[in-house]
Amino acid sequence: MASKHNNSILGRIVLAILIASFFTPNLTYAEKSKIMGFEMNAIDKCWRSDPEWRKNRPQLATCSVGYAGKMTNNIGEGLIHYKVIDPSDDAINPKPGTLRYGASVIQGKVWITFERDMLIQLVKPLLISSFTTIDGRGFDVQIANNACLMIFKATNIIIHSIGIHHCKSQAPGIVIGPNGKVMPLGQVDGDAIRLVSASKIWIDHNTLSNCEDGLLDVTRGSTDVTISNNWFKFQDKVMLLGHDDGYVRDQNMKVTVLYNHFGPNCNQRMPRIRHGYAHVANNFYLGWLQYAIGGSTEPSLKSEANLFVAPTSGRKEITWRKDNNQNRNGGEFHSINDIFENGASFIATKGGKVRKPNYTKEQVFIVADAKSVRSLTRASGVLRCGKTIC
Ligand SMILES: *[C@@H]1O[C@H](CO)[C@@H](O)[C@H](O)[C@H]1NC(C)=O
Repeated sequence: MASKHNNSILGRIVLAILIASFFTPNLTYAEKSKIMGFEMNAIDKCWRSDPEWRKNRPQLATCSVGYAGKMTNNIGEGLIHYKVIDPSDDAINPKPGTLRYGASVIQGKVWITFERDMLIQLVKPLLISSFTTIDGRGFDVQIANNACLMIFKATNIIIHSIGIHHCKSQAPGIVIGPNGKVMPLGQVDGDAIRLVSASKIWIDHNTLSNCEDGLLDVTRGSTDVTISNNWFKFQDKVMLLGHDDGYVRDQNMKVTVLYNHFGPNCNQRMPRIRHGYAHVANNFYLGWLQYAIGGSTEPSLKSEANLFVAPTSGRKEITWRKDNNQNRNGGEFHSINDIFENGASFIATKGGKVRKPNYTKEQVFIVADAKSVRSLTRASGVLRCGKTIC
């Protein structure tokens, strides 16, 4: 996402004019952004245009769309503001000031921010409590090199602007559970973020890479999840929706995958879906090795206005079904208004009906033209925020 520098004199003059117009007082931030040549997506437009974003952090909760809906249960009366000042970790007796103390011990509505740039190496998976927001905006916050995040039997959680990478599998052990009490936890795979029986979860603007198992797993009856504005890179198994073929409770799973950037070097599962329903819209796929979107056990997936750029050499087909491409067990994959570049192809299910997401007023968003996906996903992953512009 590095911008190209233009060193020509003309380029410099144009740049000077653009910068000057950015500070012209009578334009809205959105208008200024247009002039600067970037366009913000529906979620970002809602808060990034606020120069006082640092003061108004909880306003973010009103910006989510898709199946998570608005995260307004996470803000308002009784909200506890908690700042992480200590990167250390203890799975059973976490110190006040650490991430685990704020995310697992404190109950109720908690809005977690960070004092400074921080690299946190968790000793065991972090089990996040219901009504918790982890907000890394403004600093370079990384959770890396050992255990990572888990949402276990919890609801109403926001994870925002965190880098999560090099997550490793964990032997069984004892940790503070999402209710603030210690509990035994079995073996956990090395995923960046793992959802187990979780609902109403919003995962936005994180950068996820290089984990032992996958980057994001939505499993065991989890539902009402929005995965937006994330950057997924350098990973074999990227995103799993649905626990295993035998877990029929996942038939109720509904997930929105929106404005994400996949690649470089993602191999498969963007996502791989079982049973439930996924609306995959306005994402940027920069290559794949085995496939981008796959499934088994009759999932249904609406791929809408994504930009798929096939790898230069190798498999150009986007989809994969467990049995074969005709079998209904592979589910219903429908492609609407997607753009295919570099020879990319999408074998859609023949016949059948494209299931609508049936979003409520709180969930609905306008799907943009796939032609603007490059621009709408340009700021995906962790944001680098200035004093007034994030
Ligand atoms: C939306 O509603 C229609 C009509 O009731 C239904 O057929 C379809 O399956 C629904 N979509 C989802 C994702 O549940």
